[in-house]
Amino acid sequence: VKIGVFDSGIGGLTVYRALRRRLPGAGIVYLGDTARLPYGTKSAETVGRYAREATAFMLDQGVESLVVACNTVSSVALDEVSEASPVPVIGVLEPGVARALETTRNGRIGVIGQPATIKSDAYGRSLRARRPEATVLGAACPLFVPLAEEGWTGNEVARAAAALYLAGLKAAGVDTLVLGCTHYPLLSETIAAEMGPEVVLVDSAEAVAAEVARALDPADAAKRTLAGESAESEDRFFVTDSWERFREVAARFLGRRLESLEKIDL
Ligand code: DGL
Repeated sequence: VKIGVFDSGIGGLTVYRALRRRLPGAGIVYLGDTARLPYGTKSAETVGRYAREATAFMLDQGVESLVVACNTVSSVALDEVSEASPVPVIGVLEPGVARALETTRNGRIGVIGQPATIKSDAYGRSLRARRPEATVLGAACPLFVPLAEEGWTGNEVARAAAALYLAGLKAAGVDTLVLGCTHYPLLSETIAAEMGPEVVLVDSAEAVAAEVARALDPADAAKRTLAGESAESEDRFFVTDSWERFREVAARFLGRRLESLEKIDL
């Protein structure tokens, strides 16, 4: 199987990492639209256009399914991507929603993400569609993105940002918090410490990887897994800006150096 993973930039590597762990035998093509990030502060119309262009590129690569790792695209442009794609498209939103509903006991769910994701209320709509009595509270935490990229995930700046961003959700008594942005899993310890031990974090990268593993032909996925082989060395990484910064930050997200990076234009 050949899976395409598309993100606005580097953060989607959290989804890549989760997929790699679950599906060692799958081939993965990663595209980070680094020249145009962040998506999360742009309008839905612009994000939709970028996403369609990225989809066309991924289809040219012959991917057999497309994972939209970016929460912003998943929230505001998933329909456009699905319409443009003959292969199955899986966004990060629905798997995160399903997991949040399994997790919550008091029905009070917090969602944090980029401004476009929170403004769209896509998580809230989906959560309430499945459980009308749920109370959903959102908070945009845009500074978490550069903090994750800088590797400032556990210092006093990260803790101060978390305290300010999360105060409202904490006061509202949410028992479940969806990390609705590719970058936030890197800050999960700081976020968890701020929210306290009774709040469960839902990692949307993990949730989507589990969903993809379920959706794929299990026999195919298992073949190389059982043989203990990993297709990792054949993975391809495409970026739209120069790859130097991507490589540097990617090492922070993956804990290893990426060798084959290719710059493309969309
Ligand atoms: N990938 C984006 C998301 O998950 C975060 C970075 C950006 O705004 O481009 O919302």
